[in-house]
Amino acid sequence: SSPFGFDFVIVGATGDLTMRKLLPAFYERFRGDQIDGTTKIIGTARSPLSSEEYRTKAAEALKAFVAAETYDASKAEAFLRLLHYVPLDMTEQNADWSALSSLLKTEKGRPRVFYLATAPKLYVPTADAIAHNSLITDTTRIVLEKPIGTDLASATAINDGVGQHFRENQIFRIDHYLGKQTVQNILALRFANPIIERIWNADSIAHVQITASETVGVGQRGSYYDTAGALRDMVQNHLLQVLSFVAMEPPTAIAPTVLRDEKLKILRALRPMTDDMIRTDTVRAQYAAGEVDGTTVGSYLDDLEDGESTTETYLAIRAEIRTARWAGVPFYIRTGKRLAQKETTVIVQFRPQPWAIFPDKPEPGRLVIRIQPNEGISLSLSSKDPSTEQFCLREASLDVSYEKAFNTRYPDSYEDLLMAAVRGDQVSFIRRDEVEASWHWVEPILNGWAANIRPLETYPAGSRGPKSADDLLARNDFVWKELTDAC
Ligand code: BG6
Repeated sequence: SSPFGFDFVIVGATGDLTMRKLLPAFYERFRGDQIDGTTKIIGTARSPLSSEEYRTKAAEALKAFVAAETYDASKAEAFLRLLHYVPLDMTEQNADWSALSSLLKTEKGRPRVFYLATAPKLYVPTADAIAHNSLITDTTRIVLEKPIGTDLASATAINDGVGQHFRENQIFRIDHYLGKQTVQNILALRFANPIIERIWNADSIAHVQITASETVGVGQRGSYYDTAGALRDMVQNHLLQVLSFVAMEPPTAIAPTVLRDEKLKILRALRPMTDDMIRTDTVRAQYAAGEVDGTTVGSYLDDLEDGESTTETYLAIRAEIRTARWAGVPFYIRTGKRLAQKETTVIVQFRPQPWAIFPDKPEPGRLVIRIQPNEGISLSLSSKDPSTEQFCLREASLDVSYEKAFNTRYPDSYEDLLMAAVRGDQVSFIRRDEVEASWHWVEPILNGWAANIRPLETYPAGSRGPKSADDLLARNDFVWKELTDAC
């Protein structure tokens, strides 16, 4: 597409997300000729910086966070000229917004985006201030980062408050997992390949595992993370979105309304978790000291400034989806920090053969979707081992590595999402009712854990997590598959 111009205001523009993700993503799209020279990317935050000082900070961020293969000093310099900075305090009711409004172009049809990279408690005051300063045009959009609230009531309050000034089709709730090519590809895999869709149901599939494991700890984010925990930080948004892609019925088009309607049906079909289920079907744990990649690391409590906390940094949950397609198929979700490896996968485990004719019972096959790293897909198959005369079976797999297949750079998820927000395309953003349906399912678990129905366990940093997560699957004769043993 030919380059075009827009005004993009980042609220919270000195923060980590802006420096690490937003500016590098815009740089890539500028380099790719999608952004023209009339574009203004306007940072605002409390720090009293000049635009020149902000550009210096941004220049350092580009050097640090743009991949070496795509960093080009003269392109970076041209890009930095699009940046402006206006100091503004969103908590101050009578702040003077004139410097910001005079930077915004008023020509009809020009996209204007406000991106809120701030604490969620500022979402409503910021939306109020934008409206109060008469900055909302027909082509103005507002982007909200996760987390949208900390429970159903606070999410509803944010949605109501922002909804006072912006129509739903102007509100872009971002979930960076939906910008991942491999997550989007779940739709292609399922709905562009009839061979896959025909076996995508309870007849063929025994269970599904969704894993997002990380090696990092909470780092500098302790004060946020400790109020969130893994359930709010990863499951309420990213992993339930992935689950809804895996489980949804075929939408009639890849278009915002129908696609989001289908996701919503899945979120609403999740079986509500009762206290009994929370006791038996969930695991919550926190990392203790240990060793990650050969380095000794402290516990979660060591990482926090004040060392008391029952926040979970790991969880495993057995979920059920009450639809005809998925009746009787458990969906296991697990995620955690300070685990043995960084990998996000969806593993679809097929059912065993009802009757085995071979002396070795064949392993029922599975499909492994590698969201990251080594993005790709593999299908494991039982095959005759050619080194033996008898029918000895071994697992071998058909493997597609996207990097090899497409020989192309893997864009960061923010690149797609930011440009989609500018264009006004909501297909990869979360609708209000989806956020609320997710909280509706998550909230009883939060409450059950707060009441200690399922006690908090610990696991050594660098391990695979607590053993009870294995027991959760063993109950149904299943095992978690790690990528290292998934062929
Ligand atoms: C963020 C969470 O939304 O996602 C982080 O707040 C987490 O805690 C991150 O580390 C994981 O994202 P990715 O893309 O590395 O899987």
